[in-house]
Amino acid sequence: MTQHFIVIGNPIAHSKSPQIHQVFADQIGLDIRYQRQYCPNDAASFTAVVEAFFGGGGIGANVTVPFKQVAYDLCQERGALSEHASVAGAVNTLLVKDGVLYGDNTDGQGLVNHIVSLGWPLKNARVALIGAGGAARGVVLPLIQAGIGALTIANRTLSKADTLVAELSAASNEINQHSITTCATADLTGDFDLIINATSIGLTDATLPLADNLQAQHAYDMMYGRPLPFLQHFKERGAQASDGYGMLIGQAALSFKRWTGQAIDVTQATQALQQANLTTNK
Ligand code: ATR
Repeated sequence: MTQHFIVIGNPIAHSKSPQIHQVFADQIGLDIRYQRQYCPNDAASFTAVVEAFFGGGGIGANVTVPFKQVAYDLCQERGALSEHASVAGAVNTLLVKDGVLYGDNTDGQGLVNHIVSLGWPLKNARVALIGAGGAARGVVLPLIQAGIGALTIANRTLSKADTLVAELSAASNEINQHSITTCATADLTGDFDLIINATSIGLTDATLPLADNLQAQHAYDMMYGRPLPFLQHFKERGAQASDGYGMLIGQAALSFKRWTGQAIDVTQATQALQQANLTTNK
C-alpha cells in the first residue's frame, strides 16, 4: 500500500524533499507518495493541515520555513517532542507515535552525520559556530553529543549569542556542562579544527567580517546551491570545505528512518540524486 508523506512550507515550490525521499524509497523498494504542501503563514492553518494529513492516514511530514517553531508549539501543547526538537525549539519531522503527534528535529544530527561521512574529526575538535538564529540553535546539542571540544559561538549581534547560550544551557544539562564561549563575529580569532557558518548571509550578497588571524582546518556552510564566499575564504587559506547539501540529505535520511524504521545508504542516495540532476539539467 502506498505510504503518504508531505513537506509543509511557505514558499514550498522549490523544495527538493520529494525528489530526495523518492530516491530513498526506490533504494529500499518502498511504495511512497511524497508531496509538497503549501500552507498559509499562520498557526491555525498549519494545525489544520497537520490534522487533515494525519487524520487521512499520512505517515510522516517534514516541516520547513517558516513553520518549524509553530510545529514545536503544536507538539508541545498537545503532543510530544524528542530531546533534539525540545532543545532546538523547532521541529522538522512529524509523525504519530502511540496515537500522539510527535515532533523531532533531525537537522543537527544530519549535519553531524555529513561531517562524519566527510571524514572530518569531531572528537575533541575546537569548533567555531557562526550565527545565533534557528539554524545555529539546532546544531549545538548534536555537535556536543558527537564529542566536540571547546565551542565558540560568534554572531554579528553578540547579545543574541549570549542569549542563545543561556537558553540552551537552561534547556540541556549536557550543554550547560560544556565549555562554550561567545564573541562578536568580527572578533573571532584563533585556530579551529572546524568552523561552521550557520548564518543566513549566504542568501544575500553580503560577506561576513572575518579576522585575518582566523584559521580553520575544515569549513562548513549550512547553505547550498549557490556560490558561498565563506567557503572560498577558508579554501584560499588551505581548509577543506563543504556546503550544506549533504546536511539536507542527512536530515532527510534521519526523518525517513523515523517514519519507516529503514536506514538509508546516504552515499549511494547522494550519487543517485547527483546522477538524476545531471540528467534533468541537460
Ligand atoms: P536562521 O533560522 O536561518 O538561523 P535567523 O534566525 O533569522 O535565521 O538567524 C539569522 C542569523 O544570520 C543570525 O545569526 C544573524 O545575525 P544577527 O543575530 O546579528 O542578526 C545572521 N545574519 C544574517 N544576515 C547577516 C549579515 N549580513 N551579517 C552577519 N550575520 C548575519
